[in-house]
Amino acid sequence: MKIKKLGVNIDHVATIRNARDEIYPSPVKAALLAQKSGADSITIHLREDRRHIRDNDLKIIKNKLRIPINLEMAPTNEMLKIATKFKPSFVCIVPEKRKEVTTEGGLNVKKQKKTLYKIIKVLKKNKIRISLFIEPNISDIKLSYNLGADCIELHTGEFCNIFNKGKKTYNSFSKLKRSANFAKRLGLEVHAGHGLTYKSAYKISRINDISEFNIGHFIVAESIFVGLKKTIKKFKKIINK
Ligand code: PXP
Repeated sequence: MKIKKLGVNIDHVATIRNARDEIYPSPVKAALLAQKSGADSITIHLREDRRHIRDNDLKIIKNKLRIPINLEMAPTNEMLKIATKFKPSFVCIVPEKRKEVTTEGGLNVKKQKKTLYKIIKVLKKNKIRISLFIEPNISDIKLSYNLGADCIELHTGEFCNIFNKGKKTYNSFSKLKRSANFAKRLGLEVHAGHGLTYKSAYKISRINDISEFNIGHFIVAESIFVGLKKTIKKFKKIINK
């Protein structure tokens, strides 16, 4: 099986920082550590409301990182301006609703065809690899291909919800598998992401046609348990010096 790439999404490092309006934890430090630890790319979602990553994070990360930055952005003029200014290696166009807790579903490619076409054209001129975050269905894949996307990222949220509840995932898994296969045959690169954990990512990694995973929330969450013991021990040492 071909080696699959892992894009590490560091948005939620910024969420923790912003919760107290502090300067730590630093998303830049997290991006550099992820790079050192073998991440193939760093994903950041610059939201319209800047609830996690901020413009300055993007600026510093872009200057310091050697591996590609995958900028997730809504298809808006504001974001297009930022993308053409900072020129990340990759852009993943995602839908965005102000009140959603997270990116709740894939793009409505049909409804936003014209906007997407315009944005993709400009990004292509800037030699940025373009991915569209979509639900796993054939019609959205065909539309993405016709719009000139290089990649699609399949939204794994529905699969993960069913999987986490311990329910039968056959239909949801098949949808992902069929979509990945169809897109790959069209010549699109196929990525997957949203809500993935160790277990669900393992299951989906069985789909050969998916070449890249973008994972964030679980990595940041799991890091608490990996790092808690060390941090507490270090504090005990410091206060008893
Ligand atoms: N891929 C895309 C396009 C996303 O928008 C997100 C965040 O919603 C992710 C991957 C990562 O999802 P998570 O943080 O649940 O791992």
